[in-house]
Amino acid sequence: MDLKDKKIVLGISGGISAYKSPGICSLLRKQGAKVKVVMTQAATEFVSPLTFRTMTDNLVYSEMFEKNPSQALVEHIELTKWADIIVIAPATANTIAKIANGIADNLLTSMMLAYRSPVIIVPAMNTYMLNNPATRQNLKTLRDRGMLVLGTHTDLLACKDVGDGKMLEPEEIVDEIDTVLRKKDLAGKNFLITAGPTIEAIDPVRYLSNHSSGKMGYELAREAMKRGAKVKLISGPTNLQAPKGLDLIQVQSTEDMYQAVEKYFDQTHVLIKAAAPADFRPAKQAMEKIKKKDQDQMVLELSPNKDILKTMGQRKKDQVLVGFAAESENELENGLEKITKKNLDLIVINNIKAKDAGFKTDTNKVLIVDKDKQVQDLDLMTKTDLANVILDRVLQILK
Ligand code: CTP
Repeated sequence: MDLKDKKIVLGISGGISAYKSPGICSLLRKQGAKVKVVMTQAATEFVSPLTFRTMTDNLVYSEMFEKNPSQALVEHIELTKWADIIVIAPATANTIAKIANGIADNLLTSMMLAYRSPVIIVPAMNTYMLNNPATRQNLKTLRDRGMLVLGTHTDLLACKDVGDGKMLEPEEIVDEIDTVLRKKDLAGKNFLITAGPTIEAIDPVRYLSNHSSGKMGYELAREAMKRGAKVKLISGPTNLQAPKGLDLIQVQSTEDMYQAVEKYFDQTHVLIKAAAPADFRPAKQAMEKIKKKDQDQMVLELSPNKDILKTMGQRKKDQVLVGFAAESENELENGLEKITKKNLDLIVINNIKAKDAGFKTDTNKVLIVDKDKQVQDLDLMTKTDLANVILDRVLQILK
């Protein structure tokens, strides 16, 4: 997330989902954003303006003509000048209809006649209201005007109907805000990112694998996409939810991952290999479950897999190649060897034994080394922040 000091006007109209709006506000404030809240009169019936006054450190705007002399006379214009983005969450069918038709009968809708920044509309309503042709048409009108209209979830709704119309969760909404406001400095670039472990079948029941969670690769994919890149994510089996909007290619074995990387490599500008592919596979894969019988010992013969990154390193033309090195000792020495052996532009070296770093954590502590053996020793940071540091380095190379 990169919302520090971003100026966000949060418009709230009167629906039951307004109970989630303080959650949006709280997440935005935690990210360092500045927030001003505009409420319709109906919204103030659902949540108290005092909640937002306290959370935002700003006045809450609701009446068109406030009695408070410290507020500007033409607030609806002042707010639109101030905003980097306007987000209406929840946007009820009524407010959507008014905005679509240029009606300005309260502060929020008046502001929506004067907006000049990007706008995100977050609908929340009963399924039948959402599917009514009038609402559908109004939402289309807003989309055609360049506003980003988000979808809704299907669930049991407050009115006891089950269906579409539930407002997205605060985390999803804030993620969309972050995406819209992000500088698109990787636009026009094709990224191929690998993530997670691979698994090598021993028999139909068992397999060999490793502890990779895929978190680092998924963060790289998400952040690259937010920065405008076109991303293909080649992922081994993980428990992670792939970000919307990217091309997810799911694979099992190292050979599958190799095939997928090879297929797209020529059209790729940047290959980032955050995956931990299994280096070996069982020499023979049993077609039936192996029985334990009464053996004292069981010997499993292994054959080496292809080194995907090394092969692409030999093949590369002007692609930027970023590798990872998971080391448990002599990390710099081993990492330096890998950068040369695999013909990489950058290598991200992590000591998997370090505290709060490595496979399953949300943070990482790494060294980034470039072709000239320049070492960047980074502090412990979240994998999201690290993804952006790595992407900044890639961007410098692309330039
Ligand atoms: N890698 C790869 N294909 C493999 C093994 C690794 O492309 N068969 C890539 C990884 O995705 C990573 C880099 O090579 O970007 C280094 O992986 P790592 O497991 O640290 O090193 P290895 O080359 O496997 O060497 P070793 O296991 O001896 O440390």
